[in-house]
Amino acid sequence: MAKQREMFKKLLSLMLFVGVMVASVNLQEFTEDLTEDDPIIYERSSDIANEFAKEYIYFLKTGHESKSLKDLSSKLANMHTLKKLFTTSISDWETKDQFFMCTTCQAVVNIVVHMFRGEDGEFNGPNAQNNAKNLTLELCQRFQLQTGNVCSGLFDINWPTVHYIIMNSKADARSICGLLPISFCAIKQEEFDWSVEVDSKTGPLTKPKADKPQKTQNDLMILHLSDIHYDPDYKEGSLADCEEPLCCRNVDDRNISIDVGAGFWGDYRDCDAPKRLILNAFQHIRTQDQIDYIYYTGDIVPHNIWSTTEESNKEIITEIFDLLSKQFENIKVYPAIGNHEAHPANVFGNENVPTNMSSRWLYEHLWDLWSDWLPAEAKETILKGGYYTVTPRPGFRIISLSNMDCYIFNWWIYYNGNEISLPQLQWLHDTLLDAEENNEHVHILAHIPSGGKDCWPVWAREYNRIIERFSDVISGIFNGHTHKDEMLLHYSELGHPMAISWNGGSLTPYSYKNPNYRIYEIEPKTFQVVDHETWIFNLTEANEQNGLKSPRWFSEYHFSEFTDDLSPSGIDKWLNQMAENPDILQKFWSYKVTLADPNLSTGCNNKCLLNNICQLAVSANNRKERCEELQSILESNVSYALTQHVTRDSLLSVLSNA
Ligand SMILES: *[C@@H]1O[C@H](CO)[C@@H](O)[C@H](O)[C@H]1NC(C)=O
Ligand SMILES: *[C@@H]1O[C@H](CO)[C@@H](O)[C@H](O)[C@H]1NC(C)=O
Ligand SMILES: *[C@@H]1O[C@H](CO)[C@@H](O)[C@H](O)[C@H]1NC(C)=O
Ligand SMILES: *[C@@H]1O[C@H](CO)[C@@H](O)[C@H](O)[C@H]1NC(C)=O
Ligand SMILES: *[C@@H]1O[C@H](CO)[C@@H](O)[C@H](O)[C@H]1NC(C)=O
Ligand SMILES: *[C@@H]1O[C@H](CO)[C@@H](O)[C@H](O)[C@H]1NC(C)=O
Ligand SMILES: [Zn+2]
Ligand SMILES: [Zn+2]
Repeated sequence: MAKQREMFKKLLSLMLFVGVMVASVNLQEFTEDLTEDDPIIYERSSDIANEFAKEYIYFLKTGHESKSLKDLSSKLANMHTLKKLFTTSISDWETKDQFFMCTTCQAVVNIVVHMFRGEDGEFNGPNAQNNAKNLTLELCQRFQLQTGNVCSGLFDINWPTVHYIIMNSKADARSICGLLPISFCAIKQEEFDWSVEVDSKTGPLTKPKADKPQKTQNDLMILHLSDIHYDPDYKEGSLADCEEPLCCRNVDDRNISIDVGAGFWGDYRDCDAPKRLILNAFQHIRTQDQIDYIYYTGDIVPHNIWSTTEESNKEIITEIFDLLSKQFENIKVYPAIGNHEAHPANVFGNENVPTNMSSRWLYEHLWDLWSDWLPAEAKETILKGGYYTVTPRPGFRIISLSNMDCYIFNWWIYYNGNEISLPQLQWLHDTLLDAEENNEHVHILAHIPSGGKDCWPVWAREYNRIIERFSDVISGIFNGHTHKDEMLLHYSELGHPMAISWNGGSLTPYSYKNPNYRIYEIEPKTFQVVDHETWIFNLTEANEQNGLKSPRWFSEYHFSEFTDDLSPSGIDKWLNQMAENPDILQKFWSYKVTLADPNLSTGCNNKCLLNNICQLAVSANNRKERCEELQSILESNVSYALTQHVTRDSLLSVLSNA
């Protein structure tokens, strides 16, 4: 029995790695006949998984690769988008990517069951770790997922934590594939369901939150910066179009043509921010008339997830927070932690995990850096789990969460969702209850938007329950992580708009963005957002100057161009307006991608528009009622554009006519 348990755990550890690495593959041909019917999709996925596993095990045992395995493998390898998993948010994956993820997850379970389970499981025994690594690398190469270097680095960095979690987890293999944010792959998981105790003084919301404060002379100005992703190794002229998840840093690639060379101020491709870009942005921000507070919504460390270390993360984080405190000497900065701050990236253990594997080293370091901006009481919760609360002025409270408790790439949530995710949300609830008693208005900062596919729906459900109970107290929510200038509306259980999550975009150009920052205008009685203004520069234009000129920052837009009612109810009405007028949605989309040339030249076709209207109305990824309603309005209004590929020119004309 103990032996079986042991093997089963090894099986799970492999799954976590291989499943995730393999997950970026794209399986077009197998999914032509995908329907909305989940059980049918699931069955098809399982059939393919079984076939692959059977052939692969035969290969492992005999060294002979059947024609069928070769065919399956090459189809997979040829179809996937090489770096998708590492460079694109799950929210942007299509059904076929999800299908692939569910399929490979199951295939890997099957393979590992056969190779590790039972007394004579060939891969079991003292050599298990080497075998696990070997298998991971083989699959990595077979599917051409990543360079051997990246796969190997990821395995080495993650193995100790994952191994421990597997040994001690309450999860079983089915639970793990079932936790993927894929409806047809999901199964009911009692051990992964939990709930916050929510005060029941008020019942469900019975009407939209509609109070609409006016702009005043005394409005506060809050700067929102997000996702700097500072890369100290950035080298202009180095290869920007590399195979790894992070480029523009390899000094060996010197002799390359100019079109694949990294730009002077940064690069649209998979490259993070050079120091000079960050300095230039801060310098520009300093020219703004008024900034009362700064929100930083996470992700300072670059995307080299296969080669981070505690030391290098600490150095990078120190450099940026030191810079913020020097450049904005008299302004308080309120930061939230991002998933990249941890080592291994994404993996955040709180006080309920063994100290040698917890993120305590990071929390201690952050407390050292943040203590000038925060009250002494914040130390306790920061050391526990990287979250805190502060009252910058009477009547106004900020709550900063570390919501990697919802991030599905944080392995610890597979260890015990209850112990990992519940304490912080319960604390959020209790803190809001105190705020209500003290008549305070609250802003919540959290790196990861709750509606994304990478945020665990159980967490998102509980988070939204809390928001519903305290919608009167919460004046605004501020996120980062997606690098897009977007937002989402939270709806109550009965469908009333109740809160808005704003997203600050990113300073890094990684994943095709013009660098941006944002200033919110906040009405000083309700602390609601009454407008915001976003600043960007055109990276193409800046890089054409070869460093001879500074980037030309400009005010991209004021949100009030769209509507002057920024209450949840006002935004709800505006969503209808966009669904009925696709031109407005196009304009919203072009700002969402910060007018970045590569995206404007492809444009947003109707499928893209449908996705975009949906994302605005989803605050837990398995609740789509409002999204579907908006999509059907859009579909009946979009016909003229449905067949027409939206070109960059037509977009620009929409912009200039507006
Ligand atoms: C790794 O696996 C391959 C076949 O999958 C095998 O040929 C090789 O000997 C293995 N290497 C190690 C170090 O076990
Ligand atoms: C941490 O400590 C546990 C025992 O408490 C041990 O099993 C584990 O291997 C250690 N992990 C690391 C990464 O050092
Ligand atoms: C660099 O590129 C030039 C022109 O393409 C070529 O002639 C030269 O051999 C290259 N040098 C190296 C070291 O590859
Ligand atoms: C950005 O600059 C490039 C080069 O000057 C230009 O071609 C492009 O139209 C600009 N993009 C926008 C959105 O203005
Ligand atoms: C932006 O353009 C790039 C390059 O064409 C593409 O890979 C990416 O998916 C686009 N992003 C969005 C949000 O459309
Ligand atoms: C959008 O479609 C609805 C029907 O769903 C229709 O009543 C409305 O007039 C349309 N709006 C526009 C601007 O075409
Ligand atoms: Zn980021
Ligand atoms: Zn992030």
